Amino acid sequence: MAAPTTAPKILLMVTGGIAAYKSCLLARLLVQAGFSVKVAMTDAATKFVTPMTFQVLTGHPVATDMWGDRPSDALDHIEFSRWADLAVIAPATANTMAKAAYGIADGIVSTMLLAFPGPVLMAPAMNNNMLRHPATVANREILAARGVNFVGPGSGWLACGTVDEGRMAEPEEILSAVRELAKDLPAAVAIPEETGFWTGKRVLITAGPTHEPIDPVRYVANRSSGTMGYALASAAVAAGASVTLVSGPVALTPPRGLAGFRVVETAADMAAAVGEVLDAGADWLIMSAAVADFKPAHFATGKLKKDVLGDGWSLALTRNPDILGEVVPEHRSGPESDGLRVVGFALETDDMVGRASLKREAKKMDYILANDPTATGSGFGAENHQVTLIGADGIIWESASAPKKALAKEILQQLARTDSSSGG
Ligand code: C5P
Repeated sequence: MAAPTTAPKILLMVTGGIAAYKSCLLARLLVQAGFSVKVAMTDAATKFVTPMTFQVLTGHPVATDMWGDRPSDALDHIEFSRWADLAVIAPATANTMAKAAYGIADGIVSTMLLAFPGPVLMAPAMNNNMLRHPATVANREILAARGVNFVGPGSGWLACGTVDEGRMAEPEEILSAVRELAKDLPAAVAIPEETGFWTGKRVLITAGPTHEPIDPVRYVANRSSGTMGYALASAAVAAGASVTLVSGPVALTPPRGLAGFRVVETAADMAAAVGEVLDAGADWLIMSAAVADFKPAHFATGKLKKDVLGDGWSLALTRNPDILGEVVPEHRSGPESDGLRVVGFALETDDMVGRASLKREAKKMDYILANDPTATGSGFGAENHQVTLIGADGIIWESASAPKKALAKEILQQLARTDSSSGG
């Protein structure tokens, strides 16, 4: 008979950075995913979030003190370290990394770290200059050489007001890294089952328009806000997928928790980005971008002057690559994206279903989402949207007119339902 299994026990150590607030979400995600979680906090961390928050989220008392003065036990540092299968330090400050590198044990977290013999994952978060300081760089190297695992930091808005590297990895990314590490734990420790259809699936989503430059200040483009693609990306992250968003120029903030985010300008850039992501490996491609079919035949390096152009002028256009029709087939047969499911969009004003079905076949898509912008309850810039999902056997589902966020969630559910029942 197989040995009884238990869910991995995670010791989450929270140190003093503003990213500590994101560790509350991490604690919740870990618990929801089925891990047992106990939390230890440095003094500085308790200035950002209260131990009570973690206690409520994990259902366990939180260790904050070495000497038993506060609610935590004097021997917590040994007990917690013995209890845990895996330690996660999030956020890991420059100070904690330095202490860990040199074996300094002068507080609850640094002491637990020294007493913990198992796998360690650090999610650094700090100011960009602190991150690049040779001391921090050297400390990270020491820790990595000793087998400590790292996730992030990523780039983005830092609390000090700069946009640079130093931001703690998103809780969803840290959860994925924990899952990866947990795979190496002894067989008696079972990783909680991932349940949802989208959990762990690598999903590439394109969104927004492409801009095809005429000269340095003018371009040709389709009308697209990117809202639908961003809503799909957000819904896919929430459903547990590992999402890469390739976006044309839009005025939207990328959703949290993306595995990858690339901003491109032209159709050629988008084609290259899609090719690269597919080569790295993807399970699904959802092509919601409004790619420009044509681009100016010549790019003027200087601004074209009105007085030179006169009262009227003609712009010569040339075909852009069709990403779905021409670029994707070259990359989908590779070993990394074998079995790729392809979903496209079609905007049709007459014979919507007939034309979209032909397009689905011509561009070798598994599914196409058709919509008619002239129909009521749909359209450009409209709050609500309506789509018809079409597969090889015709119409699969016709949505109600709904806000794009809600629609995105339903689209993913319908795709999951259809694909699972077709044996995908
Ligand atoms: O042919 P049509 O442009 O209507 O096809 C729409 C679908 O094809 C969308 O999913 C869009 O993202 C994709 N497309 C593409 N490359 C282009 C134009 C459109 O992949 N050059």
